[in-house]
Amino acid sequence: MERELTMEFARVTEAAALASARWVGLGNKDAADDAAVEAMRAVFDTIHMNGTVVIGEGEMDEAPMLYIGERVGNGESPELDIAVDPLEGTNSVAKGVAGAIAVVAIAQKGCLLHAPDMYMDKIAVGPAAVGRINLDATVAENVANVAQALGKSIQDMTVVVLDRPRHQKLIQDVRACGARIRLITDGDVSPAVACAFEDSGVDMMMGIGGAPEGVLAAAALRCMGGEMQGRLWPENEADVDRAKALGIENVQKLLLMDDLVSNDDVFFAATGITEGPLLRGVNFTSKGALTHTVVIRGKTGTVRFIEARHRFDKKPKYAMKGC
Ligand code: FBP
Repeated sequence: MERELTMEFARVTEAAALASARWVGLGNKDAADDAAVEAMRAVFDTIHMNGTVVIGEGEMDEAPMLYIGERVGNGESPELDIAVDPLEGTNSVAKGVAGAIAVVAIAQKGCLLHAPDMYMDKIAVGPAAVGRINLDATVAENVANVAQALGKSIQDMTVVVLDRPRHQKLIQDVRACGARIRLITDGDVSPAVACAFEDSGVDMMMGIGGAPEGVLAAAALRCMGGEMQGRLWPENEADVDRAKALGIENVQKLLLMDDLVSNDDVFFAATGITEGPLLRGVNFTSKGALTHTVVIRGKTGTVRFIEARHRFDKKPKYAMKGC
């Protein structure tokens, strides 16, 4: 994929972030999500590509836009697979708390796992700890191995975990081995990606969260040479059927990087909506707004942080949806 796409995908996540940021703290997560979807969709269609949404807002009959199978872009080559979460962390926006981003991952056709909308058990680390994690090992083993790889004492390790009742044992186990824990209310993509940044303060992300979010985070880690492992966590037979319908016959399979994202030629872009471990949130100003975006290109491993100042009086209409 051409490097020029870098800026295009940044524009896509910026638009979604700007639109949903209007809803920060207003207690309406659906409106915030709708705004992000509409804005992202509008900017996607200005890009020279023939994209197919493989991870999106749901099935065609569940979502009016960015549904799985929907074509985005102006229809010209290249042919690409698109994973989107226009608003990752709907509750965070509704409550006005940290952790919401607008995020996309783009790969060549067939290179992203078509993850069903269900849970996935995940473990993520940055490049320095590649090869030192195993989802089937104990928490103590994983934390000790990663600490050793990072050259840190276990007491200096920070593990991010979603604060959920299902993680009671995981939280106990992390504490028992002496590592520090950061519990988050929502949004496990940013902390997984943050593992790849030495100065982010996040060493590992563990626990059960969304499977689509797992693929999005894996795309960023693939670009940066980090690692994620996952296993689908079906809650009922309908989940199992949903996975099978997307071609995942063995739901128990341990999913490694090559299963999640099978090629380095991937783009990842995310814009902060509320502040997080990697990105600042949208800041409205007298003339427009400031956004903070990261775009990563897997082919070269280049990571760009883009601080943008948007002028609402000068932006084209399609890029102003929801602003
Ligand atoms: P939404 O954007 O759909 O609100 O998801 C946010 C999120 O926190 C993800 O980051 C995470 O993977 C998942 O939800 C966890 O699901 P649950 O809230 O059901 O525990």
